[in-house]
Amino acid sequence: MTRSMDSVGDDSSIELLAGLASTRTIRRYTSDPVPPEDLNSILWHATRAPSGSNRQPVRYLALVDGPRAARAKSLLGESFRRGWSAKLRQDGYESGSGLDPDSPKARQARAMQEYVDNIESVPVVVLVCLVRYRDPNPYEGASVYPACQNLLLAARALGYGGALTMWHQGVESELRSLLDVPDDVALSACITLGKPRGSHGPVRRKPLHDVVFDDRWGVEAEWAHDPEGTRHAGGAPR
Ligand SMILES: Cc1cc2nc3c(=O)[nH]c(=O)nc-3n(C[C@H](O)[C@H](O)[C@H](O)COP(=O)(O)O)c2cc1C
Repeated sequence: MTRSMDSVGDDSSIELLAGLASTRTIRRYTSDPVPPEDLNSILWHATRAPSGSNRQPVRYLALVDGPRAARAKSLLGESFRRGWSAKLRQDGYESGSGLDPDSPKARQARAMQEYVDNIESVPVVVLVCLVRYRDPNPYEGASVYPACQNLLLAARALGYGGALTMWHQGVESELRSLLDVPDDVALSACITLGKPRGSHGPVRRKPLHDVVFDDRWGVEAEWAHDPEGTRHAGGAPR
């Protein structure tokens, strides 16, 4: 039985909300493996996510230490490094405040570089896949990404951390042939997982009143406010 079944029905909503508010993207991992029982539990909780008509079109291709995992991780490593190097230039990480090595931008850039330089030794990579049952459409991700978030939250609950990425796309055709992924299956996300080096903590987002409208588009909701002490990112605090 997976761990959470023991507590189903408990009033654990406070812990659940605390997890939602503090599950950061974790890109630095120790070399500790993720034992099969924990990976099992993480993926079981991922599969509890909703999907359209409960069709459950999501599949999880776990790359741990099987015969193809090392080759797949090495392909991913190449692609992640290319992906980051393009983003580094596009997003101006090496200009403006990024020139100051103590700036948040420069620290973020170093963390990202370390992440992409170490993809080959990430304990677990999960390719989250969608078995298509109709032609590709803009909404098909709606049945996949709830499962991705469940996966990340379950990992968090068990003491792990992860990062949802799209940088598998640079080697998608190579991955498909290496891993025998059928043509009607989309590779929707690539999630890296492991024991965090560093820690989770409150995530920073835009202020709630910037993103919630009341009754009509653009009308600020009087009742929308962040809990005391919330720190923001990506939007000016009031
Ligand atoms: C759809 C999506 C795509 C993402 N793609 C990448 C990616 O390719 N590489 C990466 O390092 N992080 C990726 N992320 C992680 C985001 O950068 C991260 O969630 C965001 O910066 C907020 O950081 P936080 O989760 O620590 O609060 C992605 C997240 C989402 C939801």
